[in-house]
Amino acid sequence: MPQEFTQFASQCRARVDNVLDQYLPLAQDPTQLRAAMRYSLFNGGKRVRPILAYAAALAIKPGINLNLIDPIAASLECLHSYSLVHDDLPAMDDDDLRRGKPTCHIAFTEATAILAGDGLQTLAFDLLTTTDLPAATQIKLVRQLAQGSGVDGMVLGQAIDLAAVDHQLNLAQLETMHRHKTGALIRASVAMGAISAGADDKQLAALDNYASAIGLAFQVQDDILDVTGDTTTLGKQQGADIARNKPTYVSLLGLDAAKTKADELHRQALGALGMFDESAAPLRQLASYIVQRSN
Ligand code: IPE
Ligand code: IPE
Ligand code: MG
Ligand code: MG
Ligand code: MG
Repeated sequence: MPQEFTQFASQCRARVDNVLDQYLPLAQDPTQLRAAMRYSLFNGGKRVRPILAYAAALAIKPGINLNLIDPIAASLECLHSYSLVHDDLPAMDDDDLRRGKPTCHIAFTEATAILAGDGLQTLAFDLLTTTDLPAATQIKLVRQLAQGSGVDGMVLGQAIDLAAVDHQLNLAQLETMHRHKTGALIRASVAMGAISAGADDKQLAALDNYASAIGLAFQVQDDILDVTGDTTTLGKQQGADIARNKPTYVSLLGLDAAKTKADELHRQALGALGMFDESAAPLRQLASYIVQRSN
């Protein structure tokens, strides 16, 4: 990746980590709840959704003060981290490794992991009320996050995923599952960054086309890495999908066709950004990163 992007990404990560650390400080807690929430946040996530929100805001308003986006970025990471804690639970994917460390329910207890997920989810919405944006914009952000993560978004995708174990899905069904479980929150991330920067409807529509394409590409690449990656680099168990007989792009199409699909979606994402100038460079680089990443 170009150095420019690596620098941008690490600046975004530092910003979001700082907000999270301030908003959820290590404080006295008679239980392990706060410790489990912090454990699940500060364990080396790539912070792709926060970076997307910053990049979308910059595409709309290049001079924007990124302080405005900080709570939104932190909110997205809380929501995403909650989804991972619950995704790893024994009743779901039953994974013991996440971001290179024992999963939350292994490091703590299953009950604590469930509650840590609950706490992270509500913290995400709490954070959205702390921006300096007008109240009407804050409500739009809450709605975007709720819809992206809820019963018509990520949670629905997770339900489809669990119902699909040991079943054959056709390509259309697999795509629907991926668009919900992973794509929906990625679309919300882009929309929330753009809305905060004052995007108009035309800009939002173009960015949503971009986000739909990279949102699906992100999960196609996740499926590919389950096969081609190694556990140390991935920070999660390689081969977990195969072990659990999960339908994936690779199991359905084979490795080469899955890679071709990711490349196609990458091209689509870049095509959707046609109306933007250099201000969308971080979004363009992110699209490349998403299909080239090795973890
Ligand atoms: C993993 O998400 C789960 C999916 C939605 C595919 P990431 O690959 O963004 O995981 P972290 O946050 O970097 O650990
Ligand atoms: C997870 O999909 C999607 C979420 C909403 C967390 P996966 O189950 O494929 O994610 P990993 O591979 O465990 O990170
Ligand atoms: Mg899963
Ligand atoms: Mg999983
Ligand atoms: Mg996966």
